Order: sequence, then C-alpha cells, then structure tokens
Amino acid sequence: MKRVAITAAIALLGAGAAAAATVAPPKGAVSITLPGDAGMAFKPGPGVGVAQASCLTCHSSAYVSTQPVLSRAQWTAEVVKMRTAYGAPITDDQVTPIVDYLTAQYGKP
Ligand code: HEC
Repeated sequence: MKRVAITAAIALLGAGAAAAATVAPPKGAVSITLPGDAGMAFKPGPGVGVAQASCLTCHSSAYVSTQPVLSRAQWTAEVVKMRTAYGAPITDDQVTPIVDYLTAQYGKP
C-alpha cells in the first residue's frame, strides 16, 4: 500500500541523511520530491482531528483532496464504504463529525 511505500521512502531518506553526515552521497544518488498534497494532513477546520485520526491510517489525504466536490450524501457513502468494505475502525458516533468535516472542507453542503 501507499503508506508502506512512503514509510520505506522515509526510511531510505533517513539512512541517506545519516550516511551523508559521514560520507559524500554516492554518485548517481536520486533525490525525490513528494507531491505537495500526498501528505498526511487535511485542511484545518472543525472535526479535522477525528477525520485525520480516522481517515489517514490507510492512505494519504490525497485520496480525499483529489475527489471532485462531493455532496454530503456522497461523503456519507464514502465513509460508510471505508467502514464496511475496508474495515476502517470508525465508531457510529464518529460518522457525523467526519461527514460534517468532509462536506464543509471538500464538499458542497
Ligand atoms: C482500513 C483502511 C482505510 C481507512 C481507515 C480509510 N480508507 Fe479510504 N480507502 C481504503 C482503500 C483500501 C481504498 C481503495 C484504495 C485503492 O483503490 O487504491 C480507499 C479509497 C478511498 C477513496 C477513493 C475513492 C474510493 O471510494 O475508492 C476515498 C475518497 C477514501 N478512501 C476516503 C476515506 C475517508 C474519508 C476515510 C475516513 C472516514 C477513509 N478513506 C479511511 C482504505 C481505508
């Protein structure tokens, strides 16, 4: 999954930085740039905490931010799908705050 790849990339970067402290980078070393929004953070707003804790454990925020502008019903369906199809550990009482957040920041209320 993407998260594994990112973790591996960070581990490699860490190893590279540690090595750079003692020796010059090897010839042909590749520098990578992560796309700006492939990150692990959502836009600020009410409910961002629960949304980040619930939605960014499996994939990056880009899965949300690159969607078209979705309605409340569509965001609700996404959250339900993440729970039922992919087993996201989201409790019943977290659904409404998450849907409120997604609709306000990435949707059309
Ligand atoms: C248990 C892991 C997991 C969690 C937690 C999770 N997702 Fe996903 N999500 C997935 C998987 C798996 C896919 C499909 C991945 C693929 O196709 O590359 C996906 C895909 C998506 C997509 C792309 C459209 C689609 O339906 O495939 C969106 C949007 C999305 N997730 C939003 C969310 C939101 C919002 C949350 C928090 C409420 C969330 N995800 C939490 C696993 C998860």
